[in-house]
Amino acid sequence: MKQVFGVFGDPVGHSLSPAMHNAAFSALGMDCIYHAFRVTPEKLEKAILGAEAMGFGGINLTVPLKEKALKLDFVKPDPLAKRIGAVNTLVFGKKGDIQGYNTDGPGAKQALLDTGVEIRGSRMVVAGAGGAARAVAFQLAADGADITVINRTEERAVGLAREISAADLPGKIRGTGLSGLKELLRDADVLINTTTLGMHPNTDATIVTAEELHSGLTVFDIVYNPLETRLLREARTSGAKTISGVLMLVYQGAEAFRLWTGVEPPLELMKKTVLEALQA
Ligand code: ATR
Repeated sequence: MKQVFGVFGDPVGHSLSPAMHNAAFSALGMDCIYHAFRVTPEKLEKAILGAEAMGFGGINLTVPLKEKALKLDFVKPDPLAKRIGAVNTLVFGKKGDIQGYNTDGPGAKQALLDTGVEIRGSRMVVAGAGGAARAVAFQLAADGADITVINRTEERAVGLAREISAADLPGKIRGTGLSGLKELLRDADVLINTTTLGMHPNTDATIVTAEELHSGLTVFDIVYNPLETRLLREARTSGAKTISGVLMLVYQGAEAFRLWTGVEPPLELMKKTVLEALQA
């Protein structure tokens, strides 16, 4: 019998995950199907337990459910997801146990490694202090990066940096307001934008322009719609290396796929499927 996988969220209609995972299942000849389900926070508990009872193969969670899922006592988070305070992947164990993971951090890490970025000791500027920044910064701190979180609301950056420092991870971390960005970038190796700036439909917005960037930088924008954000265009103009948010999207999905199936997914096909869906 076909095994069912899915993403729960609200809204969830535009999710690219069904196309990406179904392409992978089909290419590997696996008798599985992945579907998007609209689930409100009030129904999350019933939806997860229902999926487990019906033998689902695994679940992804998206907005606005990632933080709420961690508060359900039957969801057992792994240490990274617990620190981040959000889960985006649920794995159903044979004994009825439900494990929670956050694959956003691993997805970002893989996107950097793929582009040849060394993480340990690298000077990274993470712009933003929301949910995405938490996942990225906790992961990179665990891998020994030297991180500055920079955010419009300075207290949020300082708060996140304090939390990560308290977790006693190998990396160094500090938080500050946006005004110091230009100076920080001069000595940085990597800039990661986790803010919503530049996201469709406000495609003209950017955290910095080419004049503040340089060719020694790698600029990673986790925004994937549009495919090339204004920030990535500015980075290209400055001679910096660029990493598209599509890579993080694919790699977080690939990591979930591995957790559910133990099988290595076809990464190039997943990338191609996502790119086609975004261009359609
Ligand atoms: P997510 O969970 O997707 O990261 P979020 O928690 O809403 O989303 O965080 C959005 C991030 O983008 C925040 O860091 C936000 O800055 P504030 O903490 O000051 O709100 C940042 N952001 C959004 N719009 C911005 C803008 N116009 N200029 C600068 N930063 C912006």
